[in-house]
Amino acid sequence: NWSMAGFRAAKIAEIREQVGDGKVICGLSGGVDSAVAAVLIHEAIGDQLTCVFVDHGLMRLGEAEQVVSLFREHYHIPLVHVEAEALFLGGLAGVTDPEAKRKFVGKTFIEVFEAEAKKLGGADFLAQGTLYPDVIESVSFTGGPSVTIKSHHNVGGLPERMNMKLVEPLRELFKDEVRRLGVELGLPPAFVGRHPFPGPGLAIRIPGEVTKEACDTLRKADAIYLDEIRKAGLYDEIWQAFAVLLPVRTVGVMGDGRTYDRVCGLRAVTSVDGMTADVYPFEASFLTRTATRIVNEVKGINRVVYDYTSKPPGTIEWE
Ligand code: XMP
Repeated sequence: NWSMAGFRAAKIAEIREQVGDGKVICGLSGGVDSAVAAVLIHEAIGDQLTCVFVDHGLMRLGEAEQVVSLFREHYHIPLVHVEAEALFLGGLAGVTDPEAKRKFVGKTFIEVFEAEAKKLGGADFLAQGTLYPDVIESVSFTGGPSVTIKSHHNVGGLPERMNMKLVEPLRELFKDEVRRLGVELGLPPAFVGRHPFPGPGLAIRIPGEVTKEACDTLRKADAIYLDEIRKAGLYDEIWQAFAVLLPVRTVGVMGDGRTYDRVCGLRAVTSVDGMTADVYPFEASFLTRTATRIVNEVKGINRVVYDYTSKPPGTIEWE
């Protein structure tokens, strides 16, 4: 694709010009955007870039390992992997309010990141995978300028506090363009094609209290759901598909025993940029197959429901 090749070359020149021989730190979220930004910047300035991956333990199944191995083994990009699951889950204990969860994860992410940056001796620049829709949504979100629907998790405020300038090479791009750029940069298509994942991670897919046990249960259900979607060849048609774990328990029967377990909700939407979304119309047989697998294979879940709400009036994430 000539236009992405052109964009890549122009951005590399721009980054070199902006950064000079300065040091850059990039916070990896585990998602596509920050990964593409990091690879692009590394191509421009090599080991003047260090990546810091704050692993909050709220990722999808196998995701943290994927990111770490991709950066260390495949790209040889210097990467600090901070395993902070205990810190995040400890702080989330007893927290049930969605905004409180978002704020705690955002704030803690910044604190951990800041501490790591200090250990590295600081840097002149902070790199972020900010996209064009992020730039717009932070100004006016679904509810209009005066209403905060959801506090988006990002590292806002950090650059000033740490006296760093921002490098944001993806600011003009939409998600599909970031994916094309990622492929252009040699990232595995399956990696760049992954569905978006919110900064606060599974914390906002578990209404009610977030515990290690709930995260593990949800990860299993989510992995089965995505496995079925891939097997059906639907993954790339869907903007985002994920499971949520509800705090509600309902009665069921398995074998000749009574069960009293949690409810799992499934969500899948199509969208261009996440600002509006339509429900993905699965065939009934797909949903039946997936629900059966989840209830049979995941301990702690005995009922599965499908979310039929578009955005608006729903949001994509449940919290
Ligand atoms: P909502 O739930 O607001 O989500 O309809 C729109 C899109 O944004 C993602 N999302 C986030 N992404 N940090 C992020 O980086 C966040 O705090 C966050 N909250 C929601 C969501 O997954 C969807 O793609």
